[in-house]
Amino acid sequence: MQVDVLLGLQWGDEGKGKIVDVLASKYQIVARFQGGPNAGHTLVINGKKFVLHTIPSGIFREHLINLIGNGVVLDPITLEKEIIQLSTAGISVQNRLLLSRKAHLILPTHRYLDAASEASKGSSKIGSTLKGIGPTYMDKTGRNGIRTGDIHLAGFDQRYLALKKKHLHLISLFPEIEFNLSEEEDRWMASLESLRQIPQVDGEYYIHDALLAGKRVLAEGAQGSLLDIDFGTYPFVTSSNTITAGVCTGLGIAPQRIGEVYGVTKAYCTRVGSGPFPTELENEEGEFLRKAGNEFGSTTGRPRRCGWVDLPLLKYSIMLNGVTQLVVTKIDVMNAMSEIQAAIAYYYDGKRHTNVPYDLNLVSVQPEWHAFAGWEQDLSTSSRFEDLPKACQSFLHYLEEYLHVPVTMVSTGPERESLIERKVEEKTT
Ligand code: GDP
Ligand code: IMO
Ligand code: MG
Repeated sequence: MQVDVLLGLQWGDEGKGKIVDVLASKYQIVARFQGGPNAGHTLVINGKKFVLHTIPSGIFREHLINLIGNGVVLDPITLEKEIIQLSTAGISVQNRLLLSRKAHLILPTHRYLDAASEASKGSSKIGSTLKGIGPTYMDKTGRNGIRTGDIHLAGFDQRYLALKKKHLHLISLFPEIEFNLSEEEDRWMASLESLRQIPQVDGEYYIHDALLAGKRVLAEGAQGSLLDIDFGTYPFVTSSNTITAGVCTGLGIAPQRIGEVYGVTKAYCTRVGSGPFPTELENEEGEFLRKAGNEFGSTTGRPRRCGWVDLPLLKYSIMLNGVTQLVVTKIDVMNAMSEIQAAIAYYYDGKRHTNVPYDLNLVSVQPEWHAFAGWEQDLSTSSRFEDLPKACQSFLHYLEEYLHVPVTMVSTGPERESLIERKVEEKTT
């Protein structure tokens, strides 16, 4: 068996959580492979909204196992809150949530460091979610980190104190910020008790054995390809590999085991936090998308920056990930627009380009636009691709032709049911 992958092709918040929840009915295991509580994956089930930060989005499907992989960085406080949120709604994680022993722990002082580092950057700040992601991955690659498996080992307390001491030294080098460490530390220590109840596994063997036993595995990405530490809009990125390659290291899977790659994109584009955004609309149309799409961060509540879909960037993400199926979400958000646009190339250095420049921060790119007629109607009665208004189909066909990937799913609302699935063979109809 192969491991299928679902990930975001833009700057995050493409609607990955919703699509994983829908696809999960066809899998036995859903596994998160990177990121941490900087993610906010929203699911709307029977009219009730849930936001997951650490727990994979397969948790609402009773039959399957949800694995938090080794590539994830985990804050036990957030995890405990999520478990409580679910159990209040009558959903138990017992026997359905597993944790890789090799996932790294986010300490309170990682969050403290994140906040101090961001504050010191002033106007050039990244716009981090301040969940401690960067400092935790720094400790992982710097070989100082503490892994979840360590909580069951003797000497854990000493290792915690030694790392905290290092962090406090680093924090003293930054200008002072407000952070109630002793309170945060008490909450963290208390939450370790819940963490100890979650069964831990050697995730790489667990998945390997599951594949040999014929089980179907879906890897769930967090963030988006343009936030990837290597290929995103550096330095305005997160600290992990958000692309398909991250599945191999974040779960312990060999590259030839990767199967379908579902790439998720909004029908337009958003970004939360700082950094370049060539198709950003800082006008009424941007305001319209923000309002109609309810574009406010699931994790921080910050307003998301909005703009038109950017095809050179999408093509880049598709190339990096080996996307085999394109999932277009939030197309309904544009229902009332009389005209929509897409960037199809950039002008910079006096020339037309369809490749992404080395540093989008340094060049001022002028997009070349392609205009599409809007469909100006509701999509809730469309249950098949062919039922969609012709103008909407034309927009999707254009994406397929430009990107050379079939659109196999179109999401028309936040709920599970608002999804049009299309068989790959039907793609040219
Ligand atoms: P994720 O991080 O990629 O899982 O995405 P988020 O949950 O952060 O943001 C996506 C938002 O759009 C959430 O509020 C979803 O409920 C909502 N959403 C997902 N798909 C659709 C859709 O097709 N149409 C509309 N209108 N909302 C959607
Ligand atoms: P999901 O999984 C959107 C952004 C932050 C910031 C940058 C670095 O919900 O799509 P970090 O906290 O990682 O140091 O922040 O990355 N960011 C996200 N933006 N969706 C996310 O996750 C994000 N996770 C991080 O806003 O610009
Ligand atoms: Mg999100």
